[in-house]
Amino acid sequence: MDFLKLVELRQSDRKFIDKDIEEEKLARCLETARLAPSASNSQPWTFIVINDKNLKDEVAYSTYGPLKSFNKFVPQSNIIIAIVQEKKKILTEIGGRIKDKDYALMDIGIAAEHICLAAAEEGIGSCMLGWFDEKKVKQLLKVPENKNIPLLIALGYTPDDYKHRKKTRKQTTKVIKYNSY
Ligand SMILES: Cc1cc2nc3c(=O)[nH]c(=O)nc-3n(C[C@H](O)[C@H](O)[C@H](O)COP(=O)(O)O)c2cc1C
Repeated sequence: MDFLKLVELRQSDRKFIDKDIEEEKLARCLETARLAPSASNSQPWTFIVINDKNLKDEVAYSTYGPLKSFNKFVPQSNIIIAIVQEKKKILTEIGGRIKDKDYALMDIGIAAEHICLAAAEEGIGSCMLGWFDEKKVKQLLKVPENKNIPLLIALGYTPDDYKHRKKTRKQTTKVIKYNSY
Protein backbone atom coordinates (compact mmCIF):
# COMPACT_ATOMS: atom_id res chain seq x y z
CA MET A 1 0.00 0.00 0.00
CA ASP A 2 1.12 3.56 -0.70
CA PHE A 3 2.70 4.76 2.56
CA LEU A 4 0.85 8.07 2.76
CA LYS A 5 -2.43 6.21 2.18
CA LEU A 6 -1.56 3.84 5.01
CA VAL A 7 -0.82 6.75 7.33
CA GLU A 8 -4.19 8.28 6.44
CA LEU A 9 -5.90 4.94 6.93
CA ARG A 10 -4.56 4.36 10.45
CA GLN A 11 -6.77 5.93 13.02
CA SER A 12 -7.61 5.43 16.65
CA ASP A 13 -10.34 2.82 16.52
CA ARG A 14 -12.75 2.78 19.43
CA LYS A 15 -15.17 0.04 18.48
CA PHE A 16 -14.26 -3.59 17.96
CA ILE A 17 -16.11 -6.77 17.06
CA ASP A 18 -15.73 -10.20 18.61
CA LYS A 19 -13.24 -11.66 16.14
CA ASP A 20 -9.81 -13.11 16.82
CA ILE A 21 -6.73 -11.60 15.28
CA GLU A 22 -4.89 -14.22 13.24
CA GLU A 23 -1.56 -15.28 14.74
CA GLU A 24 0.44 -14.64 11.58
CA LYS A 25 -0.96 -11.12 11.21
CA LEU A 26 -0.15 -10.33 14.83
CA ALA A 27 3.34 -11.77 14.35
CA ARG A 28 3.94 -9.43 11.40
CA CYS A 29 2.80 -6.43 13.47
CA LEU A 30 5.12 -7.41 16.31
CA GLU A 31 8.01 -7.91 13.92
CA THR A 32 7.68 -4.28 12.78
CA ALA A 33 8.05 -3.25 16.42
CA ARG A 34 11.09 -5.46 16.93
CA LEU A 35 12.71 -3.92 13.84
CA ALA A 36 11.97 -0.32 14.86
CA PRO A 37 14.88 2.12 15.24
CA SER A 38 16.02 3.27 18.66
CA ALA A 39 18.68 5.62 20.01
CA SER A 40 22.05 3.78 19.94
CA ASN A 41 20.02 0.73 18.95
CA SER A 42 19.14 0.35 22.62
CA GLN A 43 15.81 -1.37 21.92
CA PRO A 44 14.54 -0.36 25.37
CA TRP A 45 11.34 -2.36 25.23
CA THR A 46 9.50 -5.56 25.95
CA PHE A 47 6.17 -6.09 24.23
CA ILE A 48 3.73 -8.09 26.33
CA VAL A 49 0.93 -9.53 24.22
CA ILE A 50 -2.16 -9.91 26.39
CA ASN A 51 -4.35 -12.47 24.65
CA ASP A 52 -5.76 -14.23 27.70
CA LYS A 53 -9.33 -12.91 27.71
CA ASN A 54 -9.74 -12.51 31.46
CA LEU A 55 -6.38 -10.84 31.86
CA LYS A 56 -7.03 -8.64 28.83
CA ASP A 57 -10.35 -7.54 30.31
CA GLU A 58 -8.70 -6.70 33.65
CA VAL A 59 -6.09 -4.60 31.86
CA ALA A 60 -8.85 -3.00 29.79
CA TYR A 61 -10.78 -1.97 32.91
CA SER A 62 -7.62 -0.29 34.21
CA THR A 63 -7.78 2.15 31.28
CA TYR A 64 -11.14 3.64 32.26
CA GLY A 65 -10.90 7.38 32.80
CA PRO A 66 -12.82 9.68 35.13
CA LEU A 67 -14.96 10.92 32.26
CA LYS A 68 -18.04 8.85 31.56
CA SER A 69 -17.15 7.28 28.25
CA PHE A 70 -13.36 7.53 28.30
CA ASN A 71 -11.73 4.25 27.21
CA LYS A 72 -14.92 2.28 27.86
CA PHE A 73 -14.46 0.66 24.45
CA VAL A 74 -11.19 -1.01 25.44
CA PRO A 75 -12.69 -4.32 26.72
CA GLN A 76 -14.04 -4.88 23.18
CA SER A 77 -10.47 -5.19 21.91
CA ASN A 78 -9.20 -8.64 21.02
CA ILE A 79 -5.63 -8.16 22.19
CA ILE A 80 -3.80 -5.52 24.20
CA ILE A 81 -0.08 -5.00 23.86
CA ALA A 82 1.71 -3.48 26.83
CA ILE A 83 5.06 -1.88 26.12
CA VAL A 84 7.44 -2.16 29.06
CA GLN A 85 10.28 0.34 29.10
CA GLU A 86 13.62 -1.40 29.53
CA LYS A 87 17.00 -0.01 30.46
CA LYS A 88 18.73 1.98 27.77
CA LYS A 89 22.35 1.28 26.88
CA ILE A 90 24.59 3.14 29.30
CA LEU A 91 25.78 5.49 26.52
CA THR A 92 22.18 6.38 25.61
CA GLU A 93 21.36 6.93 29.27
CA ILE A 94 24.33 9.27 29.73
CA GLY A 95 23.66 11.02 26.41
CA GLY A 96 20.02 11.48 27.35
CA ARG A 97 20.95 13.03 30.68
CA ILE A 98 23.46 15.40 29.10
CA LYS A 99 20.99 16.41 26.40
CA ASP A 100 17.95 16.30 28.68
CA LYS A 101 16.10 13.98 26.35
CA ASP A 102 14.20 10.80 27.08
CA TYR A 103 15.32 8.70 24.17
CA ALA A 104 13.57 5.56 25.42
CA LEU A 105 10.16 7.20 25.26
CA MET A 106 10.87 8.37 21.71
CA ASP A 107 11.93 4.82 20.80
CA ILE A 108 8.77 3.35 22.29
CA GLY A 109 6.60 5.86 20.45
CA ILE A 110 8.18 4.87 17.16
CA ALA A 111 7.74 1.14 17.84
CA ALA A 112 4.13 1.73 18.86
CA GLU A 113 3.36 3.54 15.62
CA HIS A 114 5.02 0.74 13.66
CA ILE A 115 2.57 -1.68 15.28
CA CYS A 116 -0.44 0.52 14.55
CA LEU A 117 0.56 1.11 10.93
CA ALA A 118 1.26 -2.57 10.40
CA ALA A 119 -2.10 -3.39 11.95
CA ALA A 120 -3.82 -0.93 9.61
CA GLU A 121 -2.14 -2.61 6.66
CA GLU A 122 -3.42 -5.99 7.88
CA GLY A 123 -6.94 -4.57 8.16
CA ILE A 124 -6.78 -4.62 11.97
CA GLY A 125 -7.92 -1.66 14.05
CA SER A 126 -5.80 -0.15 16.81
CA CYS A 127 -5.77 2.50 19.49
CA MET A 128 -2.82 3.64 21.56
CA LEU A 129 -3.70 4.07 25.21
CA GLY A 130 -1.73 6.41 27.38
CA TRP A 131 -4.35 6.67 30.10
CA PHE A 132 -4.40 3.67 32.45
CA ASP A 133 -3.65 2.62 36.00
CA GLU A 134 -0.01 1.72 35.49
CA LYS A 135 0.45 0.26 38.96
CA LYS A 136 -2.48 -2.08 38.43
CA VAL A 137 -1.30 -3.15 34.98
CA LYS A 138 2.19 -3.84 36.33
CA GLN A 139 0.69 -6.07 39.01
CA LEU A 140 -1.54 -7.87 36.53
CA LEU A 141 1.36 -8.55 34.14
CA LYS A 142 3.92 -9.27 36.87
CA VAL A 143 6.16 -6.44 35.68
CA PRO A 144 8.84 -5.53 38.27
CA GLU A 145 8.02 -2.42 40.25
CA ASN A 146 11.09 -0.54 39.04
CA LYS A 147 10.02 -0.72 35.39
CA ASN A 148 7.50 1.50 33.60
CA ILE A 149 4.76 0.80 31.10
CA PRO A 150 4.45 4.04 29.10
CA LEU A 151 1.87 2.79 26.63
CA LEU A 152 -0.72 0.15 25.83
CA ILE A 153 -2.09 -0.62 22.39
CA ALA A 154 -5.58 -2.05 21.91
CA LEU A 155 -6.04 -4.17 18.78
CA GLY A 156 -9.11 -5.68 17.19
CA TYR A 157 -11.28 -5.86 14.12
CA THR A 158 -13.72 -3.00 13.68
CA PRO A 159 -17.33 -3.44 12.48
CA ASP A 160 -17.85 -3.36 8.70
CA ASP A 161 -19.73 -0.08 8.95
CA TYR A 162 -17.16 1.58 11.23
CA LYS A 163 -16.43 5.02 9.92
CA HIS A 164 -13.07 6.12 8.66
CA ARG A 165 -12.62 9.68 9.91
CA LYS A 166 -10.94 12.48 8.07
CA LYS A 167 -7.88 13.56 10.04
CA THR A 168 -8.20 16.63 12.23
CA ARG A 169 -4.76 18.19 12.16
CA LYS A 170 -3.12 21.59 12.37
CA GLN A 171 -2.54 23.27 9.02
CA THR A 172 0.64 22.45 7.13
CA THR A 173 1.83 26.07 7.27
CA LYS A 174 1.42 26.05 11.03
CA VAL A 175 3.55 22.97 11.70
CA ILE A 176 6.05 22.85 8.85
CA LYS A 177 8.65 25.56 8.43
CA TYR A 178 11.64 25.87 6.20
CA ASN A 179 15.00 27.12 7.44
CA SER A 180 13.76 29.06 10.48
CA TYR A 181 11.13 28.85 13.18
C1 LIG B 1 0.67 8.56 23.34
C2 LIG B 1 -0.80 8.46 23.00
C3 LIG B 1 -1.72 8.17 23.98
C4 LIG B 1 -3.08 8.04 23.67
N1 LIG B 1 -3.98 7.65 24.64
C5 LIG B 1 -5.27 7.45 24.31
C6 LIG B 1 -6.19 6.95 25.28
O1 LIG B 1 -5.87 6.67 26.43
N2 LIG B 1 -7.49 6.76 24.87
C7 LIG B 1 -7.91 7.02 23.59
O2 LIG B 1 -9.09 6.82 23.28
N3 LIG B 1 -7.04 7.50 22.66
C8 LIG B 1 -5.75 7.71 22.97
N4 LIG B 1 -4.85 8.14 22.02
C9 LIG B 1 -5.33 8.41 20.65
C10 LIG B 1 -5.34 9.89 20.30
O3 LIG B 1 -6.42 10.50 20.93
C11 LIG B 1 -5.37 10.02 18.77
O4 LIG B 1 -4.20 9.49 18.23
C12 LIG B 1 -5.54 11.46 18.27
O5 LIG B 1 -6.73 12.02 18.71
C13 LIG B 1 -5.48 11.52 16.74
O6 LIG B 1 -6.50 10.74 16.15
P1 LIG B 1 -6.20 9.50 15.20
O7 LIG B 1 -5.28 8.54 15.96
O8 LIG B 1 -7.54 8.86 14.96
O9 LIG B 1 -5.54 9.99 13.97
C14 LIG B 1 -3.50 8.26 22.34
C15 LIG B 1 -2.56 8.56 21.34
C16 LIG B 1 -1.22 8.64 21.66
C17 LIG B 1 -0.23 8.92 20.55
